[in-house]
Amino acid sequence: MAFYLKQSDAFEKNKVTLEYIPQGCSMKMFTRAVVVLFFVYLITATTSKRNSSMLCLENERQALLRFKNDLTDYSGRLSSWNVVHNDCCYWAGVVCHSFNGHVVELHLQNPYGYCTFNISYAGRETYMACEKNNLGGKINPSLLNLEQLSYLDLSHNDFEGIQIPSFISSLRTLRYLNLSDAGFGGLIPPGLGNLSDLRTLDLGSSSYGFLRAENFRWLSDLSFLQHLDLSFANLSQASDWLQVTNMLPSLVVLRLSYCNLDLSVSLPTWSILLG
Ligand SMILES: *[C@@H]1O[C@H](CO)[C@@H](O)[C@H](O)[C@H]1NC(C)=O
Ligand SMILES: *[C@@H]1O[C@H](CO)[C@@H](O)[C@H](O)[C@H]1NC(C)=O
Ligand SMILES: *[C@@H]1O[C@H](CO)[C@@H](O)[C@H](O)[C@H]1NC(C)=O
Ligand SMILES: *[C@@H]1O[C@H](CO)[C@@H](O)[C@H](O)[C@H]1NC(C)=O
Repeated sequence: MAFYLKQSDAFEKNKVTLEYIPQGCSMKMFTRAVVVLFFVYLITATTSKRNSSMLCLENERQALLRFKNDLTDYSGRLSSWNVVHNDCCYWAGVVCHSFNGHVVELHLQNPYGYCTFNISYAGRETYMACEKNNLGGKINPSLLNLEQLSYLDLSHNDFEGIQIPSFISSLRTLRYLNLSDAGFGGLIPPGLGNLSDLRTLDLGSSSYGFLRAENFRWLSDLSFLQHLDLSFANLSQASDWLQVTNMLPSLVVLRLSYCNLDLSVSLPTWSILLG
């Protein structure tokens, strides 16, 4: 006897149809095969249902809504973040884990990049649109509810000189943190050195002295850190910069342009980009 499990084009995807080719088998065997195939159908049907309508976790959805509430968003680029549109995994800039539904990435950089003023008419229009796309306001600690957040990009926004919130040091699952040109100011929280999974830390900027660090000691435990950018931060006091960065075992790219560094030390052998 032969049964064929067939994916029929005429039916919805994932629906299994049974094609029976009678070759002298008993009715009992046929029934058993039908039962087995029915379970195969049930399994594929439930799996496909979970894939196509996966809802994000309720507490993470609430956390994102609170985070959004504290932001200014004049262009409405977070308008998909609302209570009507329930599944936060489909909100702009949100990436969820495909199996467990946890929010794992937030891509919230200004899509226009850095807003450069240009006196021409078209240039001015673009500049205005770019400025409008800057997120600002406050960063709500509700982000701490995103248990598996590994990627946070808030680059090229305008937080108008507020400090990098120190609670970011408690987002322990972060591997990628990009706050470049986002208008953060003041002392870089040394607690960022507690983010022991970090691969990328980009706090680079385009104007000198907004951010500052007094030393590099806080970086010394970041053993997976591959990419570090602190360009334009005021590092004039951080005389241990070379000593610490030279000991970071995974470091591949180091960008410290316009940091007012003490360069009276000899350079190590790995790739170093001093602008
Ligand atoms: C200004 O913008 C115009 C139109 O977008 C472009 O052609 C021109 O090269 C820009 N000028 C500068 C200095 O960026
Ligand atoms: C950080 O974000 C900026 C702007 O979105 C991007 O140009 C830069 O490459 C990012 N840095 C890293 C290390 O990925
Ligand atoms: C960093 O971690 C250490 C040890 O777990 C802790 O004592 C310290 O308070 C943390 N610092 C910050 C700023 O989170
Ligand atoms: C850089 O930092 C030093 C020491 O903290 C300070 O004296 C100096 O004024 C700062 N430079 C600028 C341009 O903010």
